[in-house]
Amino acid sequence: MPERPRRGEQGEVVLALETSCDETAAAVVLGEGEVLANVVASQIALHRPHGGVVPELASREHNLALMPVVSQALAEAGLELGGLDLIAATAGPGLASSLLIGNTAGKTLALALGLPFFAINHLEGHLLSPFVGQPGGVRPCVGLIVSGGHTMLIELRGLGGYRLLGATRDDAAGEAFDKGAKLLGLPYPGGPEMDQRGRQGDPAAFEFPRSMVDSGDHAFSFSGLKTSLRYLLEKLTPEDQAASENDLCASYQAAIVEVLTRKALGAVRATGLTCLTVSGGVSRNSALRHSLTAMCQREGIELLLAGADLATDNAAMIGYAALLKYRAGQPQSELSMDIDPNLPLALSEARL
Ligand code: KG4
Ligand code: ZN
Repeated sequence: MPERPRRGEQGEVVLALETSCDETAAAVVLGEGEVLANVVASQIALHRPHGGVVPELASREHNLALMPVVSQALAEAGLELGGLDLIAATAGPGLASSLLIGNTAGKTLALALGLPFFAINHLEGHLLSPFVGQPGGVRPCVGLIVSGGHTMLIELRGLGGYRLLGATRDDAAGEAFDKGAKLLGLPYPGGPEMDQRGRQGDPAAFEFPRSMVDSGDHAFSFSGLKTSLRYLLEKLTPEDQAASENDLCASYQAAIVEVLTRKALGAVRATGLTCLTVSGGVSRNSALRHSLTAMCQREGIELLLAGADLATDNAAMIGYAALLKYRAGQPQSELSMDIDPNLPLALSEARL
């Protein structure tokens, strides 16, 4: 069989699809992580009146938006379907009805084009995203994933060599932001809103608990934080609350940031590694980036933060993970594979 056309000597080209929650995303990634297109159609406006993601609305919107998003990604990359070498799509974790749209579309494209298909774990996409475009690629680090659905610390020794150090026992960091913001009457999703207001407030104005910060392990708990905010707001008049909105945001945010920073340092020390990666939507938070940068400088730790376009849900991180697996000679996924809303991050401890 003749070789597929390649973009010069630069390597394979992947088309990746990501529809695990409420972003419809398609990306084209080349070689060792050159992002040629990274298109995301956000559903925020659709879900905002409901104060959170409504699964059926999300999947129907994915169904409408996915093919236009794919066309846009190909156009931005200057490619047609014939110029692709592999197809990737998220297989989980996420909302079942959302995952099914991108996953089925990915498998269909792979079958029609006769290309290998790679089903990718959304968490592995986040975990590897700070390495996109980094010379040298994936290397041993502690990975902190902070998103709307997950908060976890992972010992990353190489591609597929992941050991879960600890995770949240209840709410994820992004959920803590979103639920706290909701209590304050801020629009969904609350994380970016709180970030913006918090920049103008005093982080020491109010005291919030730093749950599990000295627990001696790598687990988190954020559910008590929103409860303490609720109790505090019950004591404030609406006028006082309005007058202290920026201080409330800054102080609430400071509690999340301090816990994440100290736990990340604890994990780096416990593993003896000297590198920390941070990914997921909450890694866009300006106070968190500032705090982690200062801590890593002080402690002599190399810090790799996911780029802004790669931090929140996107398909470029899925394409990057697929390319690494393909180049490492890992087998493609069966086209008969199913999605898994609870897919765990593969823990290949034997390879550590
Ligand atoms: O990674 P992501 O896009 O989706 C999940 O996989 O969950 O993360 C979304 C989460 C939301 O909770 C959102 O409020 C939060 O990331 N987020 C932020 C910021 N930008 C997004 N939280 C705090 N500060 C931000 N600037
Ligand atoms: Zn995510």
